[in-house]
Amino acid sequence: MSFLKEIERRRTFGIISHPDAGKTTLTEKLLLFGGAIQEAGAVKNNKIKKGATSDFMEIERQRGISVATSVLAFIYKNKKINILDTPGHKDFAEDTFRTLTAVDSVIVVIDVAKGVEPQTEKLVEVCRMRSIPMLVFINKLDREGKDAFDLLDEVEQKLGLRVTPMSFPIGMGYDFKGIYNILEKKLNLFSGDNKQSISKGVVFDDLTNPKLDKIIGDKAAKTLRDDIELISEVYPDFDRAEYLKGDLQPVFFGSALNNFGVQELLDAFINIAPSPQPKKAVERLVDSKETELTGFVFKIHANMDPKHRDRLAFIKIVSGVFRRNSPYLHVRNGKKVKFSSPNAFFAEKKEIVEESYPGDIVGIHDTGNFKIGDTLTEGEILNFKGIPSFSPEHFRYVNNADPMKSKQLFKGLDQLMDEGVAQLFTLDMNGRKVVGTVGALQYEVIQYRLEHEYGAKCTYENLSVHKACWVEPKDAKNDEFKEFKRVKQRYLAKDKEGQLVFLADSEFTIQMTQSKYPSVKLHFTSEYKS
Ligand code: G4P
Repeated sequence: MSFLKEIERRRTFGIISHPDAGKTTLTEKLLLFGGAIQEAGAVKNNKIKKGATSDFMEIERQRGISVATSVLAFIYKNKKINILDTPGHKDFAEDTFRTLTAVDSVIVVIDVAKGVEPQTEKLVEVCRMRSIPMLVFINKLDREGKDAFDLLDEVEQKLGLRVTPMSFPIGMGYDFKGIYNILEKKLNLFSGDNKQSISKGVVFDDLTNPKLDKIIGDKAAKTLRDDIELISEVYPDFDRAEYLKGDLQPVFFGSALNNFGVQELLDAFINIAPSPQPKKAVERLVDSKETELTGFVFKIHANMDPKHRDRLAFIKIVSGVFRRNSPYLHVRNGKKVKFSSPNAFFAEKKEIVEESYPGDIVGIHDTGNFKIGDTLTEGEILNFKGIPSFSPEHFRYVNNADPMKSKQLFKGLDQLMDEGVAQLFTLDMNGRKVVGTVGALQYEVIQYRLEHEYGAKCTYENLSVHKACWVEPKDAKNDEFKEFKRVKQRYLAKDKEGQLVFLADSEFTIQMTQSKYPSVKLHFTSEYKS
């Protein structure tokens, strides 16, 4: 197959949702339809169960599973589909944000009864900011839930999306009869006592056809006719170009658990979802069709076996062909490297691969050379953008609890930070280290992993910080900057890249600082340089 055809047939995407909306179930059903697995229940649940905050084994179990489910790839109707796993747990939101830099589109799963939930709001906002094409799947129609039109309103208002229903439910919960596929004008009905099977579907070119009343009953037929008429009046028609720009989001209804609406979703997905997209580097825009290899690290996974310190770096191929044993430039450290056993992912297995194409994810064994955001090329100096650090939400001093092991502690902290587990800040004034995380769970993960993988012990001490603000002194008036540094000395630190950070203790402090030193710019992500 030609290089261009290989690119065209790839669909790399992520599924995002609030925990429990049905992400795992939908992923599994997509794999079932794609023939990648033979039975339901094969994809293990990758979420940390409620109440597991202090259960280290649970965290370890989850880490084990998340290696296996990091990338799930399969072929469906000759399309190569790569699903990138995104952790649902809010304490791992940063991981999800980073994974979203490697997808070309997303599917948003919403629970019909719960509607739009907080985690979905956050993740969709990130996708919207990056204009990532989104499909919405409203799940669990076999249960009582919100009215479909109310839900569409909620999706528009809370998520700021512009929706177009591609299918519409007939009834819901106990009365759920099936789904009308608006694009194909096809009626699919639930059948069987336990609603586990689906009819093959009847096409209705014209919904006024009296056969409809016979099949679903007068009342449901009338409601469906009214609903479809309302949809055609109120919602915009589907337009692929608008969807691809992130300006229009098609909505599907179904029940992942009952296989209902999943095939329609998958078929529509492979037809409309984008193949690998161009990606911005600091230096220029890189097109997927360029023949020279470029790619970037979006995730690093530590080995589960503490005796082997190697890690798996996940690289998204942006352009060109990645070949085993070819020399590539690791741009950040300026060295050429060859990879003798790059892994490709297929369903839940990984295997050594000779060639990978744009859109694919390659897993590379790494002994500590890679960092999240690193770029590989054939020699060109390129740095892919879009993996910024956001301000952590929790901050604690980290203390060495075993003075004989300080080397191990620093090495461990360094490597865990490269993996993106948390962010490390070093205070200007006294060199003390501060660990910043998105969730409280990470502190336990760090403590546990330092001890088990590096033989180091740490304790934490509370520190009252509201937000980390990256300071841009570039256009600052010299006197003002000096004054800012003098007054705020106690709160200034460096991040891992050596960038200046102001650890503000309240929103009020941020406002006061901004009005007092207007030429010193404060940013809420590390990647403020455009
Ligand atoms: P998540 O990955 O988004 O967190 O959700 P997951 O797929 O694990 O689904 C959460 C719960 O919702 C599971 O039940 C799952 O069986 C159920 N579910 C998913 N899709 C549907 C659907 O279409 N209809 C109905 N009625 N339920 C659905 P659980 O009891 O929490 O777990 P399990 O014991 O079934 O695994």
